[in-house]
Amino acid sequence: MKIATPLVAWQRAQGRHGLPWQQTRDPYRVWLSEIMLQQTQVTAVIPYYQKFLMRFPDVESLARACSQEVMAHWAGLGYYARARNLHACAQQILQNWSGRFPPDAAGLATLPGIGPSTAAAIAAFCYAERAAILDGNVKRVLARYFAIDGDPTTRAIEQKLWQLARDEVPTAVQLKRDPMMMTAFTQGLMDLGATVCTRARPQCQACPLSKGCTAFAQGRTEELPWPRAKKTLPERSVGMLIACNRGKVLLQQRPDTGIWGGLWSLPEFDSALDGGDGCTQLGVSAQNIVSLSAFLHVFTHYRLTIQPVLARATTTHLIPVAEKITIQTKWVPITELSALGMPAPVRKLLDGLHADKLLN
Ligand code: ADE
Repeated sequence: MKIATPLVAWQRAQGRHGLPWQQTRDPYRVWLSEIMLQQTQVTAVIPYYQKFLMRFPDVESLARACSQEVMAHWAGLGYYARARNLHACAQQILQNWSGRFPPDAAGLATLPGIGPSTAAAIAAFCYAERAAILDGNVKRVLARYFAIDGDPTTRAIEQKLWQLARDEVPTAVQLKRDPMMMTAFTQGLMDLGATVCTRARPQCQACPLSKGCTAFAQGRTEELPWPRAKKTLPERSVGMLIACNRGKVLLQQRPDTGIWGGLWSLPEFDSALDGGDGCTQLGVSAQNIVSLSAFLHVFTHYRLTIQPVLARATTTHLIPVAEKITIQTKWVPITELSALGMPAPVRKLLDGLHADKLLN
């Protein structure tokens, strides 16, 4: 049994319709929402999406902005490569596509940060193109409906799921009769995965596809899809110095590539050093050096233990340190911290210290 007809009927009656990016077919807005929604929940995305559009209302304003400001508007959403690709993509559209988005999924997929599924989603929503999507939620829906065993993040299973995704797209005949079916179908797959066919405790009694769902028939919804093979993430640790001097904090801009690229963060020192030697390594003359509680931050590729050290700098002059990489460093007034793009854990740490009146 094909899923398109019951899925589209369900989406139209019970799917999500009020999300900000559903009120438009402007590829700029749809693209922005799809990038923000990769690995990030709808509720977290909405305020970022709205603020981003106020500052960058179209692809040209984004392309012409400095990367600093783009990063500042992304700070807190995580996965910062998305913001770097977003900016590069806007610039390519301006330079190579006369400022207009490519008119089909194949063209969209040539741009930075737009994979085949995101390209298909944009093309389906904006151009009603007959194109299949396959994100994490859709993989789960299909793996259950067709009872696909195996880790869906592996190439072999992924290819099988792509084939099924393509097979289930509404037919050309259906789309001729009802061109908007493509939007409802694509949104329906996303909505079903996000709200009904959830990873834990799926709501099969409310599912428009339960009649044809193999996992449901076999009582295997709990075990499908297979969880991804657990990888043990490498452990790293780093010291972070919070040096204060007369209401200012010393910050360092992260290199453009790599983790937290372009964001303003705390200066880092070797985790093997104590706070005093950490200050020396960074060229900061300090007193009242205290270690705060260490905490863990988990990245996609490693786990980072952060050891914060609070110190009062006796001067804002930094001693030149031979082996120090030349990253941009500046003393920032505490009142201006909120305007800078900062990694979420660093922001949280500084906000906590500020609330406790320890930054001064
Ligand atoms: N996740 C990815 N794309 C989405 C969309 N258009 N609506 C809701 N959630 C999504």
